[in-house]
Amino acid sequence: MSPRKAIVTGASSGIGAAVAVELARAGWQLGIVGRDAARLAKVAQECGGQVQIAAIDMRDTSEFARFVEGFGAVDLYISNHGILDGRRDGEAVETGAVADDVLAINLTSAVAALHVVLPGMQARGVGQIALVSSLAGLSPLPDAPAYSASKAGLVMYGLSLREALRGSGVGVSVCCPGYVATPMGGEHLGNRPHEITAADAARRIVKSALANKRLFGFPAPLWPMALFSLLIPEWMLRMFNGDLRFTASKR
Ligand SMILES: NC(=O)c1ccc[n+]([C@@H]2O[C@H](COP(=O)([O-])OP(=O)(O)OC[C@H]3O[C@@H](n4cnc5c(N)ncnc54)[C@H](OP(=O)(O)O)[C@@H]3O)[C@@H](O)[C@H]2O)c1
Repeated sequence: MSPRKAIVTGASSGIGAAVAVELARAGWQLGIVGRDAARLAKVAQECGGQVQIAAIDMRDTSEFARFVEGFGAVDLYISNHGILDGRRDGEAVETGAVADDVLAINLTSAVAALHVVLPGMQARGVGQIALVSSLAGLSPLPDAPAYSASKAGLVMYGLSLREALRGSGVGVSVCCPGYVATPMGGEHLGNRPHEITAADAARRIVKSALANKRLFGFPAPLWPMALFSLLIPEWMLRMFNGDLRFTASKR
């Protein structure tokens, strides 16, 4: 497979912008999606080459479908858009409104958008989908339950879909980053051990997606801890995660 046209969501900032730049350097034709048109234009400039911009709220699936129709065949789809929200300073738990927003953007809109791109890939018998989840999708975050749930949902949706599509020519990878220095990272008020740059995260995501890796996470010290978090006793999990408590601050 030599895919050459890619769509990256959440590409106006952070990891998505870095993924777009990484793909552009490798000669991909890009469609980049986010809500902020000005920031998307800056990313497109950095990418150079052929970049189509879509300033879309991903909760509007019809608008995304119109963009995909104009873009043409998608060989690589990187579903990366998302928000972090959770318990604010002074709150014991996040509110129901926060949980609704996080689930609608991170999970519901991501699954709906994937189904916009998937039929074309199935019809052509070729394509690669990468879902950007999080280590929080494996290890529960008491300070952001809906964020954890949305990312766990992406892990299970992606792995289930991968198996359902086995042999079809369409691959699905799920990526679980740890702490990455991005604007979203700035909304996480707490310790961020082993934080890496967005460019580093982007390189790992692109490499693993193109290799059709099933499930991959980073950085090395946190990935195995996240994988084991459901198996170890609660007291041990609290010991590991005790200094990782945080509050969310929205821009
Ligand atoms: N940073 C971390 O430590 C970390 C760790 C693990 C996983 N992740 C995941 O990595 C992905 C990228 O995060 P990031 O750190 O790069 O955050 P970021 O810098 O805040 O970027 C988030 C991107 O998602 C877009 N987005 C958010 N809501 C959207 C919506 N309703 N419609 C369309 N686009 C929307 C934003 O677009 P606009 O700004 O234009 O609205 C932006 O381009 C997220 O899924 C996040 O959960 C991040």
